[in-house]
Order: sequence, then structure tokens, then C-alpha cells
Amino acid sequence: MNILVIGGGGREHAVIKTLKKNKSVEKVFCLPGNGGIARDAECFPVKATDIGGILAFAKEHAPDFAVVTPDDPLVLGCVDELEKIGVPCFGPHKNAAILEGSKVFSKALMQKYGIPTAKSRVFEDAAEAISYLKAHPYPAVVKADGLALGKGALIVNSFEEATKAVEDMMVKRVFGESGARILVEEFLEGPEVSVLSFTDGKTVVPMVSSMDHKRAGDGDTGLNTGGMGTIAPNPYYTEEVAKRCMEEIFLPTVRAMQKEGRPFRGCLYFGLMLTKEGPKVIEYNCRFGDPETQVVLPLLESDLLTILLACRNGTLSEDMVKFSGGAACCVVLASKGYPKAYETGFEISLPEAGEREEIFVAGAKLEGGKLLSAGGRVLGAVATAETLKEAISGAYALSEKISFANAYKRTDIGARAMAALEE
Ligand code: AMP
Ligand code: GLY
Repeated sequence: MNILVIGGGGREHAVIKTLKKNKSVEKVFCLPGNGGIARDAECFPVKATDIGGILAFAKEHAPDFAVVTPDDPLVLGCVDELEKIGVPCFGPHKNAAILEGSKVFSKALMQKYGIPTAKSRVFEDAAEAISYLKAHPYPAVVKADGLALGKGALIVNSFEEATKAVEDMMVKRVFGESGARILVEEFLEGPEVSVLSFTDGKTVVPMVSSMDHKRAGDGDTGLNTGGMGTIAPNPYYTEEVAKRCMEEIFLPTVRAMQKEGRPFRGCLYFGLMLTKEGPKVIEYNCRFGDPETQVVLPLLESDLLTILLACRNGTLSEDMVKFSGGAACCVVLASKGYPKAYETGFEISLPEAGEREEIFVAGAKLEGGKLLSAGGRVLGAVATAETLKEAISGAYALSEKISFANAYKRTDIGARAMAALEE
């Protein structure tokens, strides 16, 4: 079987390596991939947003199955287009990817179906939003409706900050058309949990829970990034919480989408806040998380390809999805300066990964046989172990063996989770 994977980050590297454990996988093509993925798949320089280019490639290479991983091609309808030319896909159709593509849509869905989430109001006019924010309690959250590279949610601590956020989004359009509509939202407090799930539109099977570390600096300080590291499982996500989430959030969401005539097939990512009143949805993503996938998939014992095909074919069942009881940690090595300006082009020396180790490459290119850094997040060092403590020390030990000139990493990935376990 030949598989086409769309995307080119650490998440895609993890997906590809996991798919290749299935012996029926002959070739994996990756568009555009990266210099590290090139060791495991045939990469071609077609951007994930170039739907025309992807279709032309698919016509020429006739893959048996495609996995569309990033948000933008999904929201653009890449799955619809590939299926039109006869390539079955893992990933939601455009009318279901809107769950991530429009926060106004997803908020309205949650309100309509009684799915717990932050209270929120939608605005299409900057002056109205600002006038509403005068009397709003702080902190508050101002969110752009559409995709914004994960930067579209701003926590504001005063009316002045809120006004600036509204003006940036709606007037200056710093996120382009994504800021044409905004939401002003109640600020929720509590531990955050990421739960990725497999769904075929009817059945939903959650994967092992995880915890992202979004801020650039130790102690959760500094700017928001795409994610500086992850651990799984998330110690705050107890069996009792999982049961509530299934009953109050996961099943109601999948059923709501089905009822709306938008069955969601693919990976549905629930960004949750465990508040005093119970778990609430912060956001939905219509795809695997990055770098959550880098800790979740190494713990998957079942065959990934079988699950992805079942999601596509409407035959998913709970017994297809088994995770090992252990833990995993991913430490991201970034280019110093990220998420602001940074330099790239430094040679990366990579050790061979050991038995319970993985190196998933995100931002690197191959030049003259050398692997050079080529992005903000360069790679993730991952270790699995029986306990979270061992997984964390394993991932850090692996990260110490990897070097490039301006590498930067957080030193406290998993520290909060360890503190929670020791409470
Ligand atoms: P989003 O783009 O919706 O995923 O939001 C990004 C991050 O902002 C989340 O991971 C949260 O840490 C934070 N956030 C978003 N919405 C809220 C909220 N209503 N209350 C508190 N924090 C929030
Ligand atoms: N790590 C957060 C995301 O993938 O959106």
C-alpha cells in the first residue's frame, strides 16, 4: 500500500514512523515533508496549502490512501478534493473541519447542544466589541474567529489591553480575514488537558491524554509558541474526568456534528480546561496536535493504519485502539529566539535513537547530505518509559545528545505534571 501524507512537521514525522510499523505499507510520499522526514518517506516540495499541486501529485502517483494532517489544507477542503479524484483520505471533510476553522461556528454548536464551554459573545464590529468590553470582568479572552497559527487567542488583563486586541484583530487585521469576526470570552481557570480522539463520524475513541507546554520559557513564562514539549498521560485527567468528558463532551460533539449533516471523520482534538464546575471545551482542532502526537503515538500499541482506515470507512470500534500503560515525554529543541526572529542553517548532529527513544524532525532541510536547521521548532526528542519521571529524564538525556549551534529548549517539560502526581 502506498500512502500520501500531507504536512511537514514533527507531528507528520511521528505519523509516518508509526504508519510504517505496518508491513503492508510499501511507500510513503510526504508533501512537503522536511529533511528529517526524508529518511522515512519520499518528500516532494509541494506546500500543504497548494491544493492544486497536491491533486496533480496524487493523479501522477496514485496513492492508495492519504492522511491530511495540518489544519489549513483540511479547512480548505483538501480531503473533499482528493476523494473526488478517487483517493480515500483520513481527515475531516471541509464541512466538518469548520469545527477548527471557525470558532464562531464551534461556539454556536456547543451552545446549541449544551456542550460545556466558556461563555462567549460574537462581534462583527470593533466599536461594539470595545463597548461591551468596558463592563467585562478581567482577565478576559479575545479570540479571532478563523485560523491564526495558534496565536489567535489573547488573554487580556485590562480594558486597555482588550481594546488593543480588538483593534489589532478587527481593524489592523493582523490575522487577516480570520479577524473579521471575534469572540469575547469568559476566562476559565484550571489545568488544561489535550485529548486527541479517533472518530469515524459515529464512534469516538479517545487516545491517551496529554499536556502541552505552549509558553516559550521555563515556568510557563514568555510568548506563546506552537508547543515546546508534551507529556502523556496527563495526570489531571483521571478516570472520573475521562468518563465525564466522554458523556458531556466527546459523544455529544460527534453526535452534534452528525445531526448537523457534518459527520466528522478523522482526528478530533479536544482542548479542555478542568474547571471547578467540571471539564469545559476551550477549543476543538480538526487534526492531530503538534507536539501532542509525538507523545501519544509512541504509546499506541495497536496498528495505526488499521485505525485510520476504519475512521475513513465508518468501521471504528473501541477494541481497535489500545495504548500501553507507560508514559512519554517530548522535549522540543527550537532555534534560539523562536517564536520571534531566529537564525537557521546550522548543522544538526543526530544520534541513533535507542529502543525507547524517538527523534521527530520538524524544521530541518537536507543540503549536501547534511541536516541543517530550517525552522523555529527544529525537532522533538521523545522517550517512553514505565513512569512519567523516567520518560522525562529519558527525553532530556536524548536531547543532550543532539546538538546544533543555536539550540534552545525548556528545562521543565513535565515538571508541573510531576508536581501534580506528587500532590
Ligand atoms: P485557543 O487558540 O482557543 O486554543 O487558545 C489558546 C490558549 O489560550 C489555550 O490553550 C488556553 O491556554 C488559552 N485560552 C483560550 N481560551 C481561554 C479561556 N476561555 N480561558 C482561559 N484561557 C483560555
Ligand atoms: N499543540 C497544540 C496544537 O496542536 O494546536
